[in-house]
Amino acid sequence: MRVRNWLFDNFKAAANSFGFEEYDAPILETEELYTRKQGEEITQQLYNFEDKGERKVTLRPEMTPSLARMVLAKANTLPMPLKWYSIPQCWRYERMQRGRLREHYQWNMDIWGSDGAEAEVELLCAIVNFFERIGINSSQVGIRVNNRKLLQYVLESAGINEEQFTPVCIIIDKMDKIPQEVIEEQLSSLGLTSENIKLIQSTLSLKDLKSINETLGNENPAVNELNQVWELAENYGITEWIEFDASVVRGLSYYTGTVFEAFDKSGTLRAICGGGRYDTLLSTFGGSDIPACGFGFGDVVIMELLSDLDLIPELPSGVDDIVFAMNEDLREAAMQVANKLRKNGRSVDLILNERKMKWVFKHAERSQAKTLVMITPNEWEQGKVRIKNLENKTEIDIDLEEI
Ligand code: HAM
Repeated sequence: MRVRNWLFDNFKAAANSFGFEEYDAPILETEELYTRKQGEEITQQLYNFEDKGERKVTLRPEMTPSLARMVLAKANTLPMPLKWYSIPQCWRYERMQRGRLREHYQWNMDIWGSDGAEAEVELLCAIVNFFERIGINSSQVGIRVNNRKLLQYVLESAGINEEQFTPVCIIIDKMDKIPQEVIEEQLSSLGLTSENIKLIQSTLSLKDLKSINETLGNENPAVNELNQVWELAENYGITEWIEFDASVVRGLSYYTGTVFEAFDKSGTLRAICGGGRYDTLLSTFGGSDIPACGFGFGDVVIMELLSDLDLIPELPSGVDDIVFAMNEDLREAAMQVANKLRKNGRSVDLILNERKMKWVFKHAERSQAKTLVMITPNEWEQGKVRIKNLENKTEIDIDLEEI
């Protein structure tokens, strides 16, 4: 918990430093909030059941639909743009593997009501801010950025219709996890010809924004949006963290524009976080659309990475003082001293059972307390307590009043 709290405190500090407000939502939601029909993995991984009122409910696999539901309910009264963050626990019935568990926490940051690249870049910056806080630099991780409109444009020019586009993205997202033949089979079962598949493959292999500018021209909406992201990222000084990669589409159906994911540069782990723009989610819930973008950043992969890089800090327990009564007759005195220290705002661990001095020293070392306050018979008689500074190992006797 100490490590988790440290991680979450850094999530929160990064979000707070960008002026985001924390929100929460119920863990249990109706199943229909997630029943999207485009074949996404997430909708097949629900921890769902029927409750006593025969309602189909599920533990949330992600936070975005809950957030959308809440925004929709108050769309007219919420001041836009909305900048909100949360660290929900999420459940997905996945095959457990390194970096993927059935239960995880996911830091979410979302901006609603802002349709420009400023919003995406703010999110990218917040991710960088978080990495820097925990001691990770741009030689260790990067953020791949793409725009779904790029592939959409290429596919539409090849005659592939709009309905096929989202399922194509979902298949493409699985490309580095399943064999190429299977991907090709799945694409052709959507009705794509082998020329279309080749076109997709050549589009995905684009890694250079300059050549895309040259081939498609900067009037192209996808190219234009990507250029804006890079321009703004330059102003923020984060370009060393980001790279263009046309193969990043992310596996969720609702993304409509910019998409991104953070990755470790040693290439051993799965995506550290993922997100993007989703401007049309509200209309799938029957509301009027509001432009939105955000990301989800899990606690699992980042902890694997921090452990690989040996960056998990030694975290003290947070105890200032350990108070110890030398014998049971002094217990009341020890309680009095502990009480006084606590009233003065100190965090005090009072030793509750009879213990040998050796045990107390060991315990003090383990908990990394700052001082050991010993209630000893002779000193107590004179209204004094013995204080050992555990950092420099010096001892002094002080009057009870001086505590
Ligand atoms: P996602 O790409 O499904 O996006 O997940 C985002 C992140 O959550 C992943 O990159 C990973 O860090 C973590 N994650 C997901 N599943 C697991 C798991 N089984 N075990 C450990 N970590 C996991 C979403 O969920 C979107 N709702 C994010 C978003 C927010 N997009 C816009 N706003």
